[in-house]
Amino acid sequence: MKPPERAGRKSTTREPIIQEFETSEPEATRRAAGVAESSRANRGWWDRNADEYQVEHGTFLGDDRFVWGPEGLDEVEAELLGPPEELKGKDVLEIGAGAAQCSRWLAGQGARPVALDISHRQLQHALRIGGPFPLVCADAGALPFADGSFDLVCSAYGALPFVADPRLVLREVRRVLRPGGRLVFSVTHPIRWAFPDEPGPEGLSVSGSYFDRTPYVEQDDEGRAVYVEHHRTIGDRVRDVVTSGLRLVDLVEPEWPAWNTSEWGGWSPLRGNLIPGTAVFVCERSEMGAPPAGGWARD
Ligand SMILES: C[S@@+](CC[C@H](N)C(=O)[O-])C[C@H]1O[C@@H](n2cnc3c(N)ncnc32)[C@H](O)[C@@H]1O
Repeated sequence: MKPPERAGRKSTTREPIIQEFETSEPEATRRAAGVAESSRANRGWWDRNADEYQVEHGTFLGDDRFVWGPEGLDEVEAELLGPPEELKGKDVLEIGAGAAQCSRWLAGQGARPVALDISHRQLQHALRIGGPFPLVCADAGALPFADGSFDLVCSAYGALPFVADPRLVLREVRRVLRPGGRLVFSVTHPIRWAFPDEPGPEGLSVSGSYFDRTPYVEQDDEGRAVYVEHHRTIGDRVRDVVTSGLRLVDLVEPEWPAWNTSEWGGWSPLRGNLIPGTAVFVCERSEMGAPPAGGWARD
């Protein structure tokens, strides 16, 4: 069971932005949460917490850097989307973009990004920082774009850790990608779910089953979810990718670099030197044909 400090790549402080609407602290639990409940809860959470998140993490993220996770792996060195000089003129969709720091970096390389997020408040931060690209408020599970609109889709911890059915998102991504198009996304490394979400030594001992997929849910007094994260094992993530009409090209586990002395929630130099904290999936659109409506057979 995750501790109340939560599993995600989020702030660890807990002061609500709109205090008068929250009467008590949400209860942290593990229980089922479906597609609609997870979307609704997370839209609300990110709208309420976007200001605090950007204050706490904005400096590390930088206004126009493309960082894949708390380890600080930068797209400039990683080149997971391809060589920067080949990004010029590419149509790129960033899903779960937050304040669109990655899209801003892409625009700086001459790409044509579109930054999509479910949270209106996160996109207001994107607007505040500025950038010559469109912002779209939508759920990653229902992308409001025509088939074959993008050369690349990317996401740094956006949407995929939070959705109940990642295959809905991945099938949508395949649909909007052009033939040969690439998807790169990062999520919490699945092994982290077996450990307490703590940056110190208490976060180094296994406290639960890696195989327990029960979502982490924070709920209000009436049992309504106000925040949800979903766990998938590595095998689940690979299966999600390949049954959604994508091909897995690489799986990157960034190592903690010596220069990075920052903590981010449960991510810290101590833990980062011992266990992976982020998994980055590099995928390409498979040309074996689109999957049927429910995806190709799995499980
Ligand atoms: C951890 S932030 C990542 C944003 C940015 N890459 C960063 O590092 O700050 C997660 C983002 O995913 C968005 N998100 C969560 N669920 C989503 C969904 N179903 N569709 C689109 N965006 C979603 C949240 O609103 C939030 O902005």
